[in-house]
Order: sequence, then structure tokens, then C-alpha cells
Amino acid sequence: MGSEDRLKRVEEEAIREIDATTSLDELETVKIKYLSRKGIVSQLFKDLPNIQEDEKPSFGKGINRLKELLNQELKQRSDKILSESGSELAEAVDITMPAPRRDIGVLHPITKTMKEICDVFSHMGFAVVEGPEIETEYNNFEALNIPVDHPSRDTFDTFYIKDKWLLRSHTSPVQIRYMQEHGPPFSIVVPGKVFRPDAVDASHSFMFHQVEGLMVSDNITFANLKWALFEFASACFGPASKVRFRPHFFPFTEPSAEVDVSCMICQGRGCRVCSQKGWLEILGAGMVDPNVFKAVGIDPDKYSGFAFGMGVERIAMLKYGIDDIRLFYENDLRFLNQF
Ligand code: PHE
Repeated sequence: MGSEDRLKRVEEEAIREIDATTSLDELETVKIKYLSRKGIVSQLFKDLPNIQEDEKPSFGKGINRLKELLNQELKQRSDKILSESGSELAEAVDITMPAPRRDIGVLHPITKTMKEICDVFSHMGFAVVEGPEIETEYNNFEALNIPVDHPSRDTFDTFYIKDKWLLRSHTSPVQIRYMQEHGPPFSIVVPGKVFRPDAVDASHSFMFHQVEGLMVSDNITFANLKWALFEFASACFGPASKVRFRPHFFPFTEPSAEVDVSCMICQGRGCRVCSQKGWLEILGAGMVDPNVFKAVGIDPDKYSGFAFGMGVERIAMLKYGIDDIRLFYENDLRFLNQF
């Protein structure tokens, strides 16, 4: 075979092998086979001395040309392999496609309202404390001056569990727990769930939330209670809100009051939400009854205090204009996402 033919054959074979590769690894193997130090092209150079004298120059040039050609072919092939695998990637990941939306959670409106209420009192120096939802009859009633046969016990209708255990019907038993552990002076707010066997309707639920307040020191008067609640109303419902106290009865406070805030929907003029009264009842309050102090071993001649308890659902409903309490418990994201 003439030396020209030999080069031609190597060239054709090499190009066929290069074109047959489908990956960079395969291409590298072909490159090593032809262009490495012990490869086929180097072998051709080594054969140069054995070539007929008159063919040597053209054979030498021919090998160099072949080497250059193969380098070009390898480069083209590797570009092609890269761009093909790149386009496969581009098909798998369409970077122009909008990213899937990540839903970011929000606080439940009850959690949010409860937190807002506690924040207002925290700024006035009240500590936030909690108590258990399963209580003793003693903490829920007796120690709060509600003896077994007392008719007011009916107003705190209760889920009994067994023996002396029940689901607390208000957050007031945490007053007892706290005062058994701490001496005056102190001021606390207590957020939490309470339970009453009420039939569920637009304004009642067997479970709802309260925030209890209690401030005890050596010279606390009704004026301090009014101050705290005025501050609360203006922070929670706006600086224009007014507060009024109506005489009431609670076994654990004396005197007691129901507290109204001016209707924030109609600014006190009278509307559907406040039943044309201009006022909305938001909480119960009063001065701690001496019998409650006695039950926890605090001297009622030395100390005095006020307490209040408010319904969180009711406040949230008033604040956000929600007309059905059941919406809070249905877990409908269309409702919950609005807060
Ligand atoms: N515990 C009372 C209730 O559930 C509210 C209240 C608390 C009233 C503290 C006076 C003082 O209705």
C-alpha cells in the first residue's frame, strides 16, 4: 500500500470512530487511540525513516495534516456532544417557567388577636403566663368563691371528666395557681382555651379563648382597673374608643362590672353590629374578692387587686367584622389567608 493510501485509510477510520462517539468519555478513548504518545499518529511518525526517500516530505506533511484534521474533528464532535446534552438539560429544566408558588403560613386570627391583647398588657408591665386546660373543681370553682351549691355555678356550665377533674370553663383558675406560687406584687395576663357545653351557633362554641388579667399589690384600686382597661381599649380598638362600666356580679370579684367599648363600626352612633346601642360588651372585671385571697393565703387586709377576663373570639369578630364564630374553626384557607 502506498504511503498516501495508508494515511487516507487512517483518516477515514479515525473520522468514522469519532463520528460514532456519543459521549465525551468515548471521544477521549478515540483521541488516546490516535493522538497519544503511543497512538496511531505517533506510530506513523516513527515509521517515517522507513519511507522511500522521495516520498518522505509529502508523507511527513501528510501526517501533520492528518494530526491537525483529527484535532479539528475531535473538537467539533465534543462541541456537538456538549450542545446536545445541554439542550436535553434545557428541556428538562425550563428556566422560563414560573416557579411553583410557595404558600407562606399566617397566624390564625385567634392566635393573632390573643397575641395582640397580650402585647398591649406586656407593654404595661404584665407578665404572660399560662395554665392547664384540664383543671380541678377546686381551682375552677371553690377557690374562686363558687361553692358547689352556688347558683352561679350554672353560668359556668362545665365538661366534667372524672372525679374532681374538668375542662376549665374560664381562665380564672390560673389566678389561683399563680397566687399559690407567687406573693404580691405582680401583674399577669393569661391567654388560653376554655370549654363549655354550649350548642354551637353563630356566636357560641364549646371551645373558645379567653385572656385573663390579674394585678395585685398593696394599694390597687378600681382606678387602676379603669386605667388598664382604657389603655387596652385605645391600643386595641383605636385612640377614639370609649369604655364604660356596668355593675354586674361575679363570685370572685367585688365589686364587679361588665365592661363595654364604644362600637368601632359606627363610632357609637348605633348600627347593626351593636344592635343600635353604640356599645359592645367585651369583658368582665372587678376587684379581687377577699375570699379568693383567703383561699390562696394572701392577706386581704394588706393587699388588693383587680381581675378581668375577656373573650378572644368576640374581640376578633368585632375587630375584623366577622359575623360567625364557626369560621374560626373550619380551617378554610380562603378565610384564614385574609389575616
Ligand atoms: N371568668 C369570667 C368569665 O369567664 C370573667 C372574669 C374574669 C370576670 C375575671 C371577672 C374577673 O366569664
